[in-house]
Amino acid sequence: MADGIEVGMAVEMALEIRELAYTVGDRTLMKGLNLSVERGQSIAVMGPSGSGKSTLLSLVLGLVPAGAGQIVVAGRELTGLRSSALARARREHLGMIFQFGELLPELTPVENVAVAALLAGTEREAAYQNAQELLDGLGVPTGDLTSTADLSGGERQRTAIARALIGSPDLLLADEPTGALDHATKLQVCDLLFALPQARNCGMLLVTHDAEVAARADRVLQLQDGHLVAPTSELTGDLR
Ligand SMILES: Nc1ncnc2c1ncn2[C@@H]1O[C@H](COP(=O)(O)OP(=O)(O)OP(=O)(O)O)[C@@H](O)[C@H]1O
Ligand SMILES: [Mg+2]
Repeated sequence: MADGIEVGMAVEMALEIRELAYTVGDRTLMKGLNLSVERGQSIAVMGPSGSGKSTLLSLVLGLVPAGAGQIVVAGRELTGLRSSALARARREHLGMIFQFGELLPELTPVENVAVAALLAGTEREAAYQNAQELLDGLGVPTGDLTSTADLSGGERQRTAIARALIGSPDLLLADEPTGALDHATKLQVCDLLFALPQARNCGMLLVTHDAEVAARADRVLQLQDGHLVAPTSELTGDLR
């Protein structure tokens, strides 16, 4: 190095999962699972219903405790944190997008997005301004009379994306985020979603049944017998 400072060559990781094990009842869903997601990278996880895709996201969110192994987000180990520290780490590092948006229909879109920031302790004016800017950027109408219940499915999902982004997450998690949308809207939301990792320098881990959605990711993996493996062409429909 010209200035004599050793610059690390390691890519900055948004998520590292090492040897993750998880058993619920008599089913072992994760059997020493490993995964790395870089900043700027999207990874899609496919797999049959019941294989544990949603559970994998719940483990990363810390909603269920890992049986063994480590989950490290943006260099910070989340496994083993106590609940208050975990809740703070979740707010600081993670954003989650659900299949059905999980928005509050009686609130306006701006309120739905701002509430995530208000809960994280952001001052009211800043939270509302940030929410408004995110929604404008994502093309969601936010006039005074707009209620979230009146938005189209695609606009509601854009609102859910804005809510996931308001804390500037290092890692975005998405569970079947286009599963409730018609085909044209799905493609529009995909355009938006898969641009996020680069635009926001975060990682994205998305689980889906939809081979067309998965094929948009930088990498597709299949959850099978508690491990992430290269997908079979049968599963991805030869889209890649
Ligand atoms: N708390 C729990 N108690 C008992 N079984 C559970 C629990 N949580 C998950 N499971 C079981 O674990 C398995 C994996 O569930 P999960 O929801 O992660 O599957 P999935 O891959 O997301 O499926 P889908 O594609 O249908 O959404 C299922 O068989 C489910 O019934
Ligand atoms: Mg699921």
